[in-house]
Amino acid sequence: MIYNPGEDSFLLAKYVKKYAKGKTLDIGTGSGILAEIALENTKDVLAVDINEEAVEYCKKKGINCVKSDLFSNIKGRFDVIIFNPPYLPKDGDEDDEIRIITTGGEKGYEIIERFIKESKNHLDRDGIILIVFSTLTGDVESLIKKYGYKFELLEEKSLFFEKLKVLKLTFI
Ligand SMILES: C[S@@+](CC[C@H](N)C(=O)[O-])C[C@H]1O[C@@H](n2cnc3c(N)ncnc32)[C@H](O)[C@@H]1O
Repeated sequence: MIYNPGEDSFLLAKYVKKYAKGKTLDIGTGSGILAEIALENTKDVLAVDINEEAVEYCKKKGINCVKSDLFSNIKGRFDVIIFNPPYLPKDGDEDDEIRIITTGGEKGYEIIERFIKESKNHLDRDGIILIVFSTLTGDVESLIKKYGYKFELLEEKSLFFEKLKVLKLTFI
């Protein structure tokens, strides 16, 4: 199963359009929607996903895409890293295919924490991270500070039971 772009994708897409440049990495690319928008600004876009089906789908569309668990298969540093992560807390009922797309862990922020921690080895000193998550995800802002980043809230959007937030991270 490949994630059908939703409100989170579209919200983040606005800022990918604004900020993507140079070497850009799209983590958890899914259908490739954000990588394709980044490609309008720069030719140097790498997309990755843990889901083989998404990787094959993006490759067929001509996107440079590899299978990777976050940064496990990535070398080098990037000017811009994009991530629309799985960010919801675990809900016992979902099946495995849906869980990998939507669930960030027991609390919801676990994948984001691993991402922020590992991103330090792959972001240029002057680079930026663009990330989207929800008020259901937990205190992501504290994690960001814990790992040596500062952030700017680019946009917040209210949905039925949650607010989505798009943040821009840079090194302190
Ligand atoms: C919410 S979807 C976002 C898809 C797309 N970027 C978009 O905005 O529509 C999250 C994506 O992250 C991928 N993913 C989940 N865990 C991952 C991991 N550890 N490493 C890489 N990708 C992962 C999922 O397979 C899924 O495609």
